[in-house]
Amino acid sequence: MTHPAIVILTGSGISAESGIDTFRGAGGLRNRNVVQDLANPQAFARDPEKVHEFYNMRRRGLIGKEPNAAHHALARLEAEYPGDVLMVTQNVDDLHEAAGTQNLFHMHGELRKAWCQACDLRTPWQEDLTIETPCPYCEETGQLRPDIVWFGEVPYHMDAILAALETAEVFTSIGTSGTVYPAAGFVEIARNRGVHTVELNLEPSDNHWDFSESHHGPATEVVPQWVDQILRT
Ligand code: OAD
Repeated sequence: MTHPAIVILTGSGISAESGIDTFRGAGGLRNRNVVQDLANPQAFARDPEKVHEFYNMRRRGLIGKEPNAAHHALARLEAEYPGDVLMVTQNVDDLHEAAGTQNLFHMHGELRKAWCQACDLRTPWQEDLTIETPCPYCEETGQLRPDIVWFGEVPYHMDAILAALETAEVFTSIGTSGTVYPAAGFVEIARNRGVHTVELNLEPSDNHWDFSESHHGPATEVVPQWVDQILRT
């Protein structure tokens, strides 16, 4: 028997119980305007120090954060499920990897990576970045930026993600409000192909009508339950 291929999209709600603020939830209101003002190439061109400081703060905020039961359940799904599982995350934290997930696309980039705009190097990065930080490869200063997809930029891995959505038989969205495109449109692509679509979120997301199955509750509860159900079938 072949097992249906599963594509899973995650958003900041899956990391909320690990102590990382969501963007639009109560804990994230403080962040929301700051993100809109700073997460774009124009802001970086105008005031790179300020943009670096914002991302330095967020990168430091990852120190000591651990994956929660939802991240661990998805890693277990990948390890134990006999079919294909692709994880696509909008999150810039590294908690899916920390839990052991391997088949993973960070469509909005990664906080713990830097990108040199001079030589195109992408490299793991744990420290603060400043406009004086030299690229470890080409040694240019002022060219390193957080490897984050900003508003107005094209998310990473889109061709591979859309190809996976073409063959998926289950699409599951976890901890995302369904407001930021193109990720918010994945469910519609899947649904139009007749794919079974599952929503796991604290509350109905903005595009909840596109899902054929919904479970509302904290990710640390609903995700392990869903994984158990998939692994039983
Ligand atoms: P949002 O803050 O928009 O949505 C988070 C969702 O998680 C909300 O629907 C919450 O109800 C839900 N949630 C909160 N706590 C939860 C919990 N414990 N368990 C389950 N669900 C929970 O965040 P995203 O959808 O990830 O883009 O935002 C998408 C993108 O918008 C982000 O990647 C970011 C942002 O602007 C960029 O930075 C490019």
